This record gives sequence, structure tokens and C-alpha cells, in this order.
Amino acid sequence: MNQKADMTRRKVLVGGAAAAVAAAATLVTTGSALAAGYKTADLGLFSAINRVKDAANMTGLEKKHAPVIKAPAKVSKGETVAVTVSVGVLPHPMTDAHWIERVRIFTEEGGAVADVSFARTGVAPVVTVNIVVGASTTVVAQAFCNLHGIWESRHSLSV
Ligand SMILES: [Fe+2]
Repeated sequence: MNQKADMTRRKVLVGGAAAAVAAAATLVTTGSALAAGYKTADLGLFSAINRVKDAANMTGLEKKHAPVIKAPAKVSKGETVAVTVSVGVLPHPMTDAHWIERVRIFTEEGGAVADVSFARTGVAPVVTVNIVVGASTTVVAQAFCNLHGIWESRHSLSV
């Protein structure tokens, strides 16, 4: 690749990054008068899906955001199992400036299970769904924080 083509490619990549940040800013400012919350948003957390890096040494952000999935590890084929997803091993704030917007639950194969939006106050971000397990699968849960991005956890259901 010649130098001119390489510079053009860099401009495109930089443009793409700027678009991603703009989208994150739009997400953070959704709703009314979040100026104080906006100042504390970590836009770096909006560039990818966040996961716990070391379960034995979780950071404060990981403790308050990573979904906690409660479900059996071993199930029978065709069994209906309750899967409960809560957000964080420590409670996450649910205030007008900082809250969990929604929780999505799906299977690794792409099967949608639940997509629940939450009010900012007066509710805990906890979802329980009953899943009929036809074959071994992995349940994926994602929590969306208005200031700290998307957090994901997984849980295997083995038949
Ligand atoms: Fe948060």
C-alpha cells in the first residue's frame, strides 16, 4: 500500500471512531437534564461490550455492572428452568442520572429470550424468565447502563 492510500485509510478509521463516540454521547444524553451524569460518563466503556476480566479480582465497575445469572448448570432435555438475571454483585444505582436502562437475555445461538426496559427509579433491574431447554446452550445476559455501557455475562446450561 502506498503512503497516500495508507493516509486515506487512516482518515476513514479515525472517522469511524468519531462516529462511535458520537453514538455513545447520544445514548448517554438520552432523557432529560443529565448534564451532571454526562460529565461522569466513561465513553471508553461504550466502545465495546464489557465483561469481567478476573472474577477473583473484580473492579468496582465490574461488581456493579456485570450481570449475575442464576440458573442450574445441569438440566434435563425439555426441562423448563428459571433463569434469573440481576445486575452486579453490588447493587447498581437506579436514579434519574444513573440507571440500568435495560437487560437483554438470549442464547449463544442467537435465540432471543427477553428484552426488558426499566424505569429509572422505583425498580430493581432483575429479570426472571423460564426457558425450555431443548439442548445444551449458553445463556447470555447483557445489562445496559446509561453511563457505563453494555456489560455481558454467560452461563452454560448442559443437557
Ligand atoms: Fe453504571
